[in-house]
Parts: sequence; structure tokens; C-alpha cells
Amino acid sequence: MKAWVLERWGAPRQAIHLSTTFPAPTAASLTGSNILVKVSHAAINPVDVHVMQILPSWAPMLPFRPHPIPAMDFAGHIVALGPALLSSSKNKDNLQVGTAVCGCISTPMVVRGHGTLAEYIVVPASLVAVKPPSVTLAQAAGLAGVAGQTAVLVEAETGGIKPGHRVLINGVSGGVGSILLQACKGKGAIVHGICSGANAELARRLGADEVIDYQKSGPVEQFLAGRFRGEGVEEEQYDFVLDTVGGQGLYEKSPVYMKPNGRFVTIDGGPSQGVLPYIMNKLRPVWLGGTPRAYSILLLSPAQRTVQELARWVNDGLVREAVVDSEFAMEEAVEAYEKLQTKRAKGKIIVRVAA
Ligand SMILES: NC(=O)c1ccc[n+]([C@@H]2O[C@H](COP(=O)([O-])OP(=O)(O)OC[C@H]3O[C@@H](n4cnc5c(N)ncnc54)[C@H](OP(=O)(O)O)[C@@H]3O)[C@@H](O)[C@H]2O)c1
Repeated sequence: MKAWVLERWGAPRQAIHLSTTFPAPTAASLTGSNILVKVSHAAINPVDVHVMQILPSWAPMLPFRPHPIPAMDFAGHIVALGPALLSSSKNKDNLQVGTAVCGCISTPMVVRGHGTLAEYIVVPASLVAVKPPSVTLAQAAGLAGVAGQTAVLVEAETGGIKPGHRVLINGVSGGVGSILLQACKGKGAIVHGICSGANAELARRLGADEVIDYQKSGPVEQFLAGRFRGEGVEEEQYDFVLDTVGGQGLYEKSPVYMKPNGRFVTIDGGPSQGVLPYIMNKLRPVWLGGTPRAYSILLLSPAQRTVQELARWVNDGLVREAVVDSEFAMEEAVEAYEKLQTKRAKGKIIVRVAA
């Protein structure tokens, strides 16, 4: 089959090459509740590039010879079911050959050669959802993967967004932010978003009640601190600040614009992969200079609970739009990654694997 294979350390153009003779997994090799999926579309994520840049340097230390295949998000059709799924009691979602499914795999699966820039993948049935009928396969790959499932995780960390909650989303136009925005609005929140002016219209179309252009406002935390100075602003303070960009300043200044019982939730761990922010913001007590607001830093581990909640958001009409920046052919995956690396994509970048 065709598959992009990770061969050496570096930027996508150096790190991956397209194999047309990669051994395809077969139906006969399926065990347990795994399924064989013919991938129609894959969506790509910043984490794929992190893996390309970090992983090959450990590869010689791994106890097996890895042929990592990049990308985690997928949508496609089931072509075979593992033996456990042939009994209806173990096949709760009634998955069948031909069912369109979507979801994402874990990083260890990428390392073991099950990445989604491949025509066929083997994936546990517990990591997929049935594709919502209202979206195409390309849109499903963008919605139900890392971005959508991370949005589910962030929303859950708030304890559940309720009507009237006031929410600020940093990076509101991105893959995660655009889904989070729609879900928070769908649940009745008042949502303010931070993005560049170029994406302000998109954020408004997706429901943002106000958009702050970080390129015009100057440091956003100072802009907000200025706005929230004075009497009677408590009611306007946010219940939650949800950060998809990496906003240490936004957290440290948050007592000015976030309620005392509010929570700051971030998904960006910075260069220390979350270690430093965890120590600074989660462990450091206020008397040692810590910020007196609850702080969470999250790392997605794909799971049935999250992918199915995302599918519910789509089926219930909370998330109506899959924001797709662009689609690339399978042969153009390097160009797709280079577009991702500009950090200027408006929504998800999709690769047509075998559409
Ligand atoms: N912890 C986890 O499990 C997890 C999971 C998924 C993603 N992530 C991380 O989360 C980050 C976002 O992921 P994504 O898939 O949403 O990325 P993305 O699609 O590239 O979106 C990032 C967005 O951030 C906006 N942005 C850039 N600089 C900004 C700034 N200074 N202030 C406010 N907004 C800014 C960009 O919009 P403009 O062009 O308008 O600036 C862009 O739309 C990435 O670093 C990713 O690695 C972590």
C-alpha cells in the first residue's frame, strides 16, 4: 500500500518519504476487537511534526525496529472486523464492514507503524465513532481527531459549560479553538475569542460574541487588565479562560479578568512539554508567587469516551461547521505539513489518502 514513512530526524521534507510498497495489514491478521479501516482522509496536527523531530533520535534505543507512519486523525470505511466483534454482545456500536468511521490513534500507535497517512490501518474499535451523517469523510477526519477530542477534554475540564458562563478562548480560530468555540456557544455560553484580525470574521461566523485581535491589542493580558479595571466589572469576569496557544502571561494576569472560582485550562505545554508550567502554575503556592486561580494543563489520550462525545456534539448540532483550511493529495503530504508549519492555517489541513 501507499504510506508515508518516517525515516530520519528533521523537518517533514527531510523526515518522511512516500513508500508505495509498504506491507498492508490484512484481515487475517486482525485480533480481538481491532478493525481494518481503508483510510479515505487523514487530518494533520502540530503533534505529528513534534514526533518527526523528536522520535527518530530515540529510535535506535527502541526494542524493535520502528517504521513510524505519521498522522493520527482519520476517516474511512471498515473493511474487516476482528473476531471479538463478530459477536453482537461485544459489538455495541454495531460496526459492520462498510461502516464509515472516524477518530484518532495514539502516539505509541504512530511509532509502531499504525499512523494514518497510509491506505489501510488497524485500529481498536474503542477508538472510533460512527461518522456523523451530516459531515463528509474529509470533514469527519478534521473534526473527530486530535483537535475535536482535545476540545472535548478541555470542555470536560471546566466541569461542563452551562448557559450564561462567560468564556475566553485563546487561539479561537485554530483546529481546537474553532470546535471549542462552537461547543461552548452551543451550550449557551458567552464566548470571547482571541485570534488575528485575518481570522476575526471566521470566529464571528462560528459564534464568537467578541473577537480580540492580538496583533492590534498589544499583549492581550494587558489589554484585558485595562478593560477590567474599576468598579462593577466582577459580573463581566470570565468563568473560564481556555488557552490553545500557550499563554503564561494570560494566566498570571487572570485574577483581574477571571472570577475567583474560575479555571484556566491550557493544552500548550511549551518547550518543556508541560513540566515547567505544571511546576510554576499547579504546584507553586500563592505565598511563593503562584497565581490565585485554578490551573489545568491537559494532554490528550484518544479514547472512546472523547470521540463519541465529539460525534454527539456534531449529531446534536452543537458543532455545525468543520473548518477546513485546505485539502492535499496523498502525494502532497509534505506540502500539507509545510502549510501547517506556517501556523497560519484557518482550520484543519486534510490529506486525501485514498478518497
Ligand atoms: N495538549 C494536547 O493534548 C494538545 C492537543 C492538540 C493540540 N495541542 C497543541 O495546541 C496548539 C493548538 O493546536 P491547533 O491544532 O488548534 O493548532 P492550529 O490549528 O495551528 O491553531 C492555532 C491557532 O492559534 C492562533 N494563534 C497563533 N498565534 C496566536 C496568538 N499569539 N494569540 C492568539 N492566537 C494565536 C492562530 O490563529 P491566527 O492565525 O488568527 O493567529 C491559529 O488559528 C498546538 O501547539 C498543539 O500542538 C495540544
